[in-house]
Amino acid sequence: MEHYAAIIGWGMSVPRRVVTNDELARQIDTSNEWIRSRTGIGERRIASADEYTSVLATAASQQAIERAGIAPEAIDLVILATSTPDRPFPATASVIQAQLGIPRAGAFDVVAACSGFVYGLHIANSMIQSGAHQTILLVAADLFSHILNWHDRNTCVLFGDGAGAVVLQQRDQPLGLLSAVLGSAGEYESLMLIERGGTRQPLSAENSHLQDRYFSMHGREVFKHAIREMALSSQQAIEEAGLQPDAINLIIPHQANLRIIEVLIKRLEIPFKRVFVNLERYGNTSAASVPIALCEAVEQGQLHDGDHVLLTSFGGGFTWASAVVRWGR
Ligand code: UT7
Repeated sequence: MEHYAAIIGWGMSVPRRVVTNDELARQIDTSNEWIRSRTGIGERRIASADEYTSVLATAASQQAIERAGIAPEAIDLVILATSTPDRPFPATASVIQAQLGIPRAGAFDVVAACSGFVYGLHIANSMIQSGAHQTILLVAADLFSHILNWHDRNTCVLFGDGAGAVVLQQRDQPLGLLSAVLGSAGEYESLMLIERGGTRQPLSAENSHLQDRYFSMHGREVFKHAIREMALSSQQAIEEAGLQPDAINLIIPHQANLRIIEVLIKRLEIPFKRVFVNLERYGNTSAASVPIALCEAVEQGQLHDGDHVLLTSFGGGFTWASAVVRWGR
């Protein structure tokens, strides 16, 4: 019998502290007008010291497990998508597994930058389809506030911290992921990266003052690639799901820039009213942006049983991923 992986629970968690554009404009050479008109972002949440990655991820997961109406013990695999783990070693997924009291379930991290959640969805779906697992917790959490250069106006105004989670469970009806298209173009690594701090260019007492230990990005170049790859992979995912674009009820794109989303939607020939956008309040939360938006879309009643939702994301690597989900439990 064929197995499917329905999304049966969803949750999110963002830090308490709201940082507005005006607050940033008091610290660096920027303005509310520039940030809003170039990105659509109005404010973002920034984590305090007690709100590290596993704390937000665990809170989002607890909400997803509660909405799924299952006991934590029912989960047999924990996947965390993050580029900003609690510690460089070991994986933060195991911390979440222990915090949630999920006994002995497998746990690992996925690193695919902003595409991490959709990558994780594909992995979780394949695991359930194969029959290897029945109930999987997939959580995405990123705290870019820790890797940003807060003096670099090109990047620090764009990101926010947060976590989003889903629970996937095996079903026999065609629910959940209908198609997924993943891609990568490592030759563009230098357009979005942290140069120093890994094994290639280690951090040391002598070089720890250098700016290249922070996230850097060539925004204009990334902008073009993001539109191109999200559009192509979305079209492919819709086709592989056996659908026409007008059968997509809701698009949940990566929440990086409203202008990217507007161009993307035009290319896909899907009306803007079918797009969910919440970047005005959270900025770009990297891997967490799609599941946070998914969670808010469900809570606002924008998804109904049988609806087709298109998820699409783009991030460092470069990586990109698009997927079509049939909603329903
Ligand atoms: O999640 C990963 C995916 N990331 C993305 O998708 C991000 C993609 N890129 C973008 O969203 C846009 O490229 C940005 C929002 C990053 C930048 O927008 P842009 O329209 O491409 O601006 P730009 O980089 O071409 O910069 C235009 C001007 C520059 O000044 P000059 O050289 O024209 O005098 C920048 O120095 O805007 C200046 N600028 C700023 N001004 C005020 C850059 N950042 C700021 C700022 N405040 N925060």
